[in-house]
Amino acid sequence: HEIGWELEQIEKHGFPFFMEKEIHEQPASVERAISGRINLDGATGHLGGLNMSARDLLGVDNVGIVAAGTSYYAGMVGAYLLESVARIKSSAELSSEVRYKNPIVTPGSLYFAVSQSGETIDTLYALRELQRKGGKVLGVCNVVGSTIARESDGGVYIHSGPEIAVASTKAFTSQISVFYIFTLLMARMRHMSWEAGIDFAKALKHIPSQIETILGQTEPIRRLAKKYARYQNFLFLGRGINYPVAMEGALKLKEISYIHAEGYSAAEIKHGPIALINEQTPSLFLVSDDSLREKVITSMKEVKARRGRVIAVAVEGDEEVADIADDYLYIPHTEELMYPFLMVVPLQLFAYYCALELGRNVDQPRNLAKSVTVE
Ligand code: G6P
Repeated sequence: HEIGWELEQIEKHGFPFFMEKEIHEQPASVERAISGRINLDGATGHLGGLNMSARDLLGVDNVGIVAAGTSYYAGMVGAYLLESVARIKSSAELSSEVRYKNPIVTPGSLYFAVSQSGETIDTLYALRELQRKGGKVLGVCNVVGSTIARESDGGVYIHSGPEIAVASTKAFTSQISVFYIFTLLMARMRHMSWEAGIDFAKALKHIPSQIETILGQTEPIRRLAKKYARYQNFLFLGRGINYPVAMEGALKLKEISYIHAEGYSAAEIKHGPIALINEQTPSLFLVSDDSLREKVITSMKEVKARRGRVIAVAVEGDEEVADIADDYLYIPHTEELMYPFLMVVPLQLFAYYCALELGRNVDQPRNLAKSVTVE
């Protein structure tokens, strides 16, 4: 095959669509993305392909992540982690916009170009522009030997295996895996204690089996999709590190079911989207058991007060949220910053089952391409 995947890897293995197969591969693909990259002795991360010495890494005071689509939302999770945990000023930007804004590149800056295919032209052009200005750009790619992987100054493969469905799923969880490892590495070089490093590493190592748990209980998600697939507008709302996950959940739904969905910070609904709320516009809230939980609950109540339907993805045992919501799904408990892994999987499945319910061509949605090689 032209991109070097084994034929056996690109079969559906009994799943009706590649997307469902790829969703179910995530315990294994996340495992591959992190395996060999956690050093428990040192409570740190290890990424072989960076082409940077410890000295170089210590000098990094700014991280810029460029990407498109789902990879951009993975980059937003990465930027949030690096800034909040490793205490390095970080941001994710759309590669299509970076290229034309005459970006400022400073000596302490490090860039990541995140691309499953490694061929997205906007991301490739952003990489080249940053390099022309003296920037060091690392690739986070899936396809080995792809253009972005070749032109970057180093990088990390996510080892997801072939992703065939146009809507990206397992690449997202693997891309964020890489950022969790890189954050651990950078944080431990700075202020993070050995004990805190161990906690972070252990929580991360536990993620594949927790994803497995979610994938073992898909029936409630299927029922939810049956109930909601015929609504025409959705809001997906999250906060903190789950805000990009809300964006990704909305993107999945619109890509494959053609239901209009918007992802927003739950805090922002009062600045506009709340005007859309009525019985016909359900809101799906991501409610983790962290410091922002109370704030998300307040937003849920605001939506309920305006007769909006509320679906919650909440942490196992959160009865308060279950009481407020019209419908809810539980996910297992994890550390505060690990929730994107567990929140995104039910959203992928929700989009998938809605699309099935509506008879859509899940793997080949209209007007979309797996990799966009034109501007
Ligand atoms: C297209 C695909 C998306 C993907 C995006 C970025 O829009 O349909 O699924 O997230 O490109 O692709 P990349 O290969 O750069 O991650």
